[in-house]
Amino acid sequence: MHEAEDLLRVENLVTRFKSVERGKWVTAVDDVSIRLAPGEMVGLVGESGCGKSTLGRSIVGLERPQSGRILLDGVDLSSLRGRALRETRRAIQYVFQDPYASLNDRQTIGETLTEALIIIGMTDREAQRRRVHTLLDQVGLPDALAERYPRELSGGQRQRVAIARSLAVEPRVLICDEPVSALDLSIRAQVMNLFLTLHKDLGVACLFIAHDLALVRQATSRTYVMYLGKIVEDASSAELYARPSHPYTQALLGSIPSADPRVEAHREPPPIFGDIPSPTNPPSGCRFRTRCPRAMEVCASGPPPRLALAPRHHASCVIAGDLYAHSHPEPHRLPMPA
Ligand SMILES: Nc1ncnc2c1ncn2[C@@H]1O[C@H](COP(=O)(O)OP(=O)(O)O)[C@@H](O)[C@H]1O
Ligand SMILES: [Mg+2]
Repeated sequence: MHEAEDLLRVENLVTRFKSVERGKWVTAVDDVSIRLAPGEMVGLVGESGCGKSTLGRSIVGLERPQSGRILLDGVDLSSLRGRALRETRRAIQYVFQDPYASLNDRQTIGETLTEALIIIGMTDREAQRRRVHTLLDQVGLPDALAERYPRELSGGQRQRVAIARSLAVEPRVLICDEPVSALDLSIRAQVMNLFLTLHKDLGVACLFIAHDLALVRQATSRTYVMYLGKIVEDASSAELYARPSHPYTQALLGSIPSADPRVEAHREPPPIFGDIPSPTNPPSGCRFRTRCPRAMEVCASGPPPRLALAPRHHASCVIAGDLYAHSHPEPHRLPMPA
């Protein structure tokens, strides 16, 4: 469905890998459609191995999808070549999970950032110097860090540099792949706040990937829930948390989330019964049925329908309508007395 206000649109994307294990195919991303409005911050959550990184990497061109379309401002990337493709791709930047693997250890921070500026045609030395200063400032790092090497920096500082490098090319979309998961608990909240500030101040749209629903709850306007290569539920984040309507989302949410954001930020995802099945051999019918507490015979017979539960709330489960009807919005929380 075309939505005029979409900045990024991913349609029916399929990305497969030939797995090492006897040449079997792994369909890491299986017929996924998502969209992002300009300046919108959207969450993508699911357990490790469900295909989140592959989806993000496919969007930025680090993986080659087998089929489907990726459109920026309505322009299909596959219709572009050469310079037009490079320039359009540049508008979509990827922030990696691991800040230790994503920076060149032989370049100073200043050189790393300057390299990105040269890519966008900024060749004037003085202009580069000023821009490096601004970028470091935007991510909360002192100017003196420009002379340092990545090995001299902490994980949090490296991730800030990686963010600055992404911003250097003035992207319109950031794909943030679990950008705080590898960081110490004590600095996660700081870097998370940095994303929120940048998103607000610069108006960059952001697909924020996390394995933990709690982390994206406060930050995002909408959330997609992914399971074994497929989006199983999507809704406004407020509604998703208040009325989760897919058994997988309900399991991910587990116990009632805390109202205290400091507790939320450090909460581990609750355990779900059993392990995620191998994507080389996904269950027939609904992929979640082998772990689903509500599985019925019908769930094995074919893929579940994607039901529209409310405007902009969908879940792919035969009983999603019932689950939605029996859920109820969270009671309004009164501010805690001081
Ligand atoms: N380069 C690759 N070659 C083969 N299999 C891959 C490759 N990258 C990812 N996969 C497989 O694709 C599935 C999804 O992985 P990934 O996208 O990394 O999930 P997530 O980011 O949600 O943890 C996993 O089963 C993983 O083993
Ligand atoms: Mg990943």
